[in-house]
Amino acid sequence: MKAILLVTTGMMLAAGVDAAPSTQVAWTPATLDFVKKGDADRGKTLSAPCASCHDGTGTNPNLNGQLPTYLYRQLQDYKSGTRQDPATIMNAMASTLRDQDMADLAVWYGQQVPMLGAGGATDVTGIAERGEGRRMEPACSACHGTGGQGEKVDTPRLAGQNAAYLEATLLAYKSGQRANDIYSRMRLIAGKLSDVEIRQLADYYSRLK
Ligand code: HEC
Ligand code: HEC
Repeated sequence: MKAILLVTTGMMLAAGVDAAPSTQVAWTPATLDFVKKGDADRGKTLSAPCASCHDGTGTNPNLNGQLPTYLYRQLQDYKSGTRQDPATIMNAMASTLRDQDMADLAVWYGQQVPMLGAGGATDVTGIAERGEGRRMEPACSACHGTGGQGEKVDTPRLAGQNAAYLEATLLAYKSGQRANDIYSRMRLIAGKLSDVEIRQLADYYSRLK
């Protein structure tokens, strides 16, 4: 099911970042198929201890409607320790989950009605939709989609996500505390944003419907 992503090591050295692999999950056809076939009913039962935290309050992320493959990989990364929750809660929670549990939880959350923003979203930075050539900053929408809906295997949905969580996690990429992004893509992108821009982008994406 799992294979070490040897390729990331070389790429990360080239980018001047830490040589430790960012994740232990390789998206082989077998792993993709395994996650796709997760059992939502079982996931629902397993999600009981998660519900009190994952209702999108405080700085906790909302998981409803998130891409299952993204959720599965984050859970694996918490378990292997390549993603460290600053409060260590998620590393403890994931340590007891088996591969099958993670796939079931991922499919269950993916099937829930996606989180919805309050509306009134304005991209005051211009970076979300256009990016900025001067800083070689790509548009966020190039990967996360024009509506922030997330795309393909590992690019998460941002639309309607809790603003406090988006801000905290972008700051964690910027400082390198969150380091499980493949090829350090998000660390390089967040590293060029000011803290004010991070707050504005978090507000923008949290408001998208
Ligand atoms: C006591 C509160 C708490 C409980 C219980 C909890 N979580 Fe979390 N979860 C968090 C916090 C806080 C974060 C953000 C941590 C970070 O910044 O890395 C998080 C992050 C996550 C993420 C990453 C989301 C993203 O957008 O990257 C996933 C997936 C997740 N939790 C799944 C679960 C599952 C599944 C359970 C139940 C088995 C669970 N959590 C139980 C608090 C909790
Ligand atoms: C080159 C593609 C790409 C671009 C451009 C990009 N992202 Fe990402 N982003 C990703 C991927 C892939 C992930 C998942 C990281 C991982 O591998 O764990 C991610 C993760 C995130 C997360 C974490 C979400 C969560 O639930 O924890 C946030 C927040 C985020 N990106 C915001 C942004 C913002 C804001 C911009 C624009 C300034 C941006 N991204 C530009 C690819 C991209």
